[in-house]
Amino acid sequence: MMLNKVVIVGLGLIGGSFASALKAAGAVNHIVGCARSAETLKLGLEMGVIDEAQPDIAEAVKGADLVLLAAPIGLTEMLLKKMQPGLDGKTVVTDAGSVKGNVIAAAKNVFGCVPDWFVPGHPIAGSEQSGVAASNPDLYKNHKVILTPTATSAPHAVALVSKAWQAVGADVLTMDVERHDEVLAATSHLPHLLAFSLVDTLAKEDENLEIFRYAAGGFRDFTRIASSDASMWHDIFVANKAAISTTLDRFEQGLATLREAVESEDSETMLGVMTRAKVARDHFTTMLAKRAYSKANEIESNQMTESNIVFTASPGGSVTGAIRVSGDKSISHRSIMLGALANGVTEVQGFLEGEDALATLQAFRDMGVVIEGPTQGDVKIFGVGLHGLQAPPGPLYVGNSGTSMRLLSGLLAAQAFDSELTGDESLSKRPMGRVANPLREMGASIETCEDGTPPIKIQGGQGLKAMQYKMPMASAQVKSCVLLAGLYADGETSVIEPAPTRDHTERMLRGFGYSVTTDGDRASLTGGGSLQATNIDVPADISSAAFFLVAASIIPGADLTLKHVGINPTRTGVINILKLMGADITLENASEAGGEPVADIHVRYAPLKGINIPQDQVPLAIDEFPALFVAAACAEGQTVLTGAEELRVKESDRIQVMADGLKVLGVDIQPTDDGAIIGGCEQGKAAFAGGHVESHGDHRIAMAFVVASLRASAEITIGNCANVATSFPNFVELATQVGINVSSSATRAG
Ligand code: S3P
Repeated sequence: MMLNKVVIVGLGLIGGSFASALKAAGAVNHIVGCARSAETLKLGLEMGVIDEAQPDIAEAVKGADLVLLAAPIGLTEMLLKKMQPGLDGKTVVTDAGSVKGNVIAAAKNVFGCVPDWFVPGHPIAGSEQSGVAASNPDLYKNHKVILTPTATSAPHAVALVSKAWQAVGADVLTMDVERHDEVLAATSHLPHLLAFSLVDTLAKEDENLEIFRYAAGGFRDFTRIASSDASMWHDIFVANKAAISTTLDRFEQGLATLREAVESEDSETMLGVMTRAKVARDHFTTMLAKRAYSKANEIESNQMTESNIVFTASPGGSVTGAIRVSGDKSISHRSIMLGALANGVTEVQGFLEGEDALATLQAFRDMGVVIEGPTQGDVKIFGVGLHGLQAPPGPLYVGNSGTSMRLLSGLLAAQAFDSELTGDESLSKRPMGRVANPLREMGASIETCEDGTPPIKIQGGQGLKAMQYKMPMASAQVKSCVLLAGLYADGETSVIEPAPTRDHTERMLRGFGYSVTTDGDRASLTGGGSLQATNIDVPADISSAAFFLVAASIIPGADLTLKHVGINPTRTGVINILKLMGADITLENASEAGGEPVADIHVRYAPLKGINIPQDQVPLAIDEFPALFVAAACAEGQTVLTGAEELRVKESDRIQVMADGLKVLGVDIQPTDDGAIIGGCEQGKAAFAGGHVESHGDHRIAMAFVVASLRASAEITIGNCANVATSFPNFVELATQVGINVSSSATRAG
């Protein structure tokens, strides 16, 4: 973009920085500065911020492409009136005021309407410094500029203002005027008002300002903005008084609640307020730092560059010792859900602090549930009862987690409020019709995209009716979704499954005192009961242990114990399949934890042979196939997998992605519609060549290829591994601990 003439009215930090940034970007030929003070204009010329000084506004704006009004907002009407004689209808005018309603009103007063060449704007940038001397050409880089065009603004005028701000490095977005003023009242004007008021209250009572001698970081952090320009803030408060009053009302209500809680020592309310605030503030910090869980807000994440985590795994590793892998993902999700819906306080131990389970936890916090932790796997949930959830403030973002989205949709379908579930790029491609369809049959009002993918929009307030649902696919998520909806339905809800799938929901509901009957392939419950809080010990996740079961089975000399692993028979397909292949696996110290069987698993190297994987084992090992493909490639003879079409709709198309990666590593593998035929390898030989493989953001694919390095002839690098944090955040640490040569590094991805 190239502008011929730009006029800056009000040559302070904001106007001066815009001028010097346009110049630095080579986006303007001539800049005219216009200010009341001759001193300011002189300085602007000396610094090279402007090319010409013109105290007469009407003269200054003549023939300009663009005028930026960057004077105090209280002067807007007067300045527009003064520039009117110099305007010819071609010059585009914008402003930089932090309130927009009054700027629109000023324009109407002067021109009788909002002219089509007027595009109000607001750069969200500034500094404690002021004046033209502080002009900084980088002030707007990566900062937001909000434009609030009106219905009458001409598209070419909006485009011109937008391009000018983009030329100086800003992210431009548009909003309507009322929304802008509400948002700014809450996020900027109210905090300034409070800071001024607090400092004044304290200062008034203490003439010598003695107490400030004792003020430490808390006071400084909270009140920094009270040293901002008083007359500027006076104008802003006046200009946005209606929106500020509304947000002040809400703040006063919140403060009164907290005051009452402190006075009556109501710990639950106090901790509720503070935990929610802490989480929200931490969330904001990570959002700004652009780290993983910051993705809680997709709008933000679209604008961010994520780091690409690459794993590098080299041959020569070993697998020995004793480790406890992180908590079971499925059970962790359910502990939060049922704990939140129970009456009373549920304490959880061994909770998986991975992104997926944290997404569920955050969703319930967003629905008003007080949850303390997680702190080293300990979580305390203050249950609100089956009917105590509150409407969330916005869409519930569940990241990469299919379990959160599918189970939550069952619960949300039965609530009195509307809700929306959104996810990351991978989850946004996964099928949700499988939960939306049965829920609709129960009477829910639920919408997905046309192809059945997220977001899921749910209209609350629908009475659900019980039903018998014959599931078309073996899915524990679908079964759990329907059963959770059934808690609210009128009558008995049954789910009939085509093959056994994990039954953690049924077991945990019983643990919370809710009767669930299981009869062969049918699980049933009757709506209208209640859940009583309990304590939950989450066992280690067999799906995470699986990578080590395979690792120890393929490398000679391996001898490893995996402690306190959940061995629910609906999850032990991986052990059964590996044993059929000849693995040496024994269970020790079997016991029970919270209704789930657990044991230590002892695994030693043994030569593996290829097999035809029995189809009845497929749903019992559904998450373990990436690791099992690696085992098959190390086995003598061919392994054939069939009946596993569900693998194509996991976090990635696991059949295709594993086949692509294994081919890169020299493995003879043929993908089929519902499985794969995997050529094996002679004992004692390297099963894999080195090379670079892509995990496509699928945690289990990334970890499987790390295991492959044990039998590789050269280094394997694996791209896009950040999502390992969804299910197994300390995978690299534990893999290194047992002797696998793996490291993780981050590179910036565009
Ligand atoms: C899960 C069920 C399985 C599994 C997923 C967790 C659960 O999904 O793959 O990782 O916690 O219910 P499906 O129900 O889609 O098979």
